[in-house]
Amino acid sequence: MKVDLTGPLYSSLENATKEYKQAKAEGNAEKAKKKALECAKITKVLAEKVPSQKNAYLEKAEKWERMAGNVENSIRAQREGSSRSGKTGGRAESGSGNRTGGGRGGNGSGNGSSGGAEVEGEDELLAQAEALIEKSSVRWDDIGGLEEVKRLMKETIAIAGLQKPSSVKPWKGIMLFGPPGTGKTLLAAAAAGSLDADFFNVKADNVLSKYFGESSKLVSALYKAARNHAPSIVFIDEFDSISLSREGESSESSRRLLSTLLAELDGLQDKKSNRLMLTLAATNTPWDLDAAVLSRFPRRIMVPLPDKSACKEIIKIHIKDLDSSKLDLDKLASTCVEKFYAGRDLQNLCQQAMWNMIREENKDLDKLAELPYKELEKRKLNVTSLKFDYFEMAFEKIRSPLTKAQLAKYEKWNEEFGG
Ligand SMILES: Nc1ncnc2c1ncn2[C@@H]1O[C@H](COP(=O)(O)OP(=O)(O)OP(=O)(O)O)[C@@H](O)[C@H]1O
Ligand SMILES: [Mg+2]
Repeated sequence: MKVDLTGPLYSSLENATKEYKQAKAEGNAEKAKKKALECAKITKVLAEKVPSQKNAYLEKAEKWERMAGNVENSIRAQREGSSRSGKTGGRAESGSGNRTGGGRGGNGSGNGSSGGAEVEGEDELLAQAEALIEKSSVRWDDIGGLEEVKRLMKETIAIAGLQKPSSVKPWKGIMLFGPPGTGKTLLAAAAAGSLDADFFNVKADNVLSKYFGESSKLVSALYKAARNHAPSIVFIDEFDSISLSREGESSESSRRLLSTLLAELDGLQDKKSNRLMLTLAATNTPWDLDAAVLSRFPRRIMVPLPDKSACKEIIKIHIKDLDSSKLDLDKLASTCVEKFYAGRDLQNLCQQAMWNMIREENKDLDKLAELPYKELEKRKLNVTSLKFDYFEMAFEKIRSPLTKAQLAKYEKWNEEFGG
């Protein structure tokens, strides 16, 4: 005879959820983590017991696991949030712990569609926003050329950190625009890496599709997390995908996302703080940005294709521990400029050239793959100095998709709106 265990499971889940909330409100990270893991475990069992809700429960289990991993941050955010609350006006910081009786109310059994106990929305979004944090190891020196862009970004960072008269307001947002592969993401990563700041790396398109309907809440959570983690850099890639949808066939949810984002940016502008919180946005299609967006990003910096000397620097970065003394870098760089190569193309070119050299120097690479891995680790790859031939073969394979007309379009937009 089958025994229905779901009833007791629902109550265990509800109890564990209550205890989790309480432990979190008391700042007891260890207990809160234990309880979140317990909730994850129970939801997994529920997933087995209630096949019709299997996926929903598994998703919840995952969320609980994420929350367990994030308890410390969450408690810290809650503490910092409550010590600051009142100042921010607007959105309630809702010191999550005291939303007692939360969740779905009632006894949680019955229809059981989502399992009696609800995962706290705000906490969960904060946990998801915090999951976007990356630590960047990129440094300014990893970027070839782009001296002007680097100088401007460094100045912005310096002004944000220094003590200053209150009317001096550093830029809170910088828009990087330019053709694909020119180093926009790299610049954002270098800004974060050089400061050892928390780097929130957000692809606008992902946020829109993955958190559809909740994306604006995620953006609020993102900025809340970024405030708690300052110095922090919020990098919003593919910015045009939000801006675009605002006009054309914009959905309610993407419009809400954009207005929340713009409101967060306005909020930052008003705050006096020397804790750096910089929003960097990037786009390949700046002409798709509307006036509301542009006005929030008075600094719009073009990240262009590298000129000859930048090409040389970028190539050197990408072949740095190989001998290039026999290489005519000038000739190489001129060819790259003629071919409209971006930094990404240069990286690919160098990789391809190195491959050509490696194949030539290691004729039986494929046979070596049959050796046990331990044996492989003891051997060394043969390398020799790089020569132009290796690159010549590589030029064949790497083609820039850019045309003169497209490049002119960037220049024109830059003249009109950049700076
Ligand atoms: N200025 C540069 N110096 C060194 N490497 C570069 C440079 N620009 C690009 N690269 C190389 O190309 C790769 C891609 O660059 P990145 O992702 O920053 O381009 P992007 O401008 O963000 O492109 P997209 O517009 O497609 O997002 C980098 O990881 C790096 O290896
Ligand atoms: Mg990028």
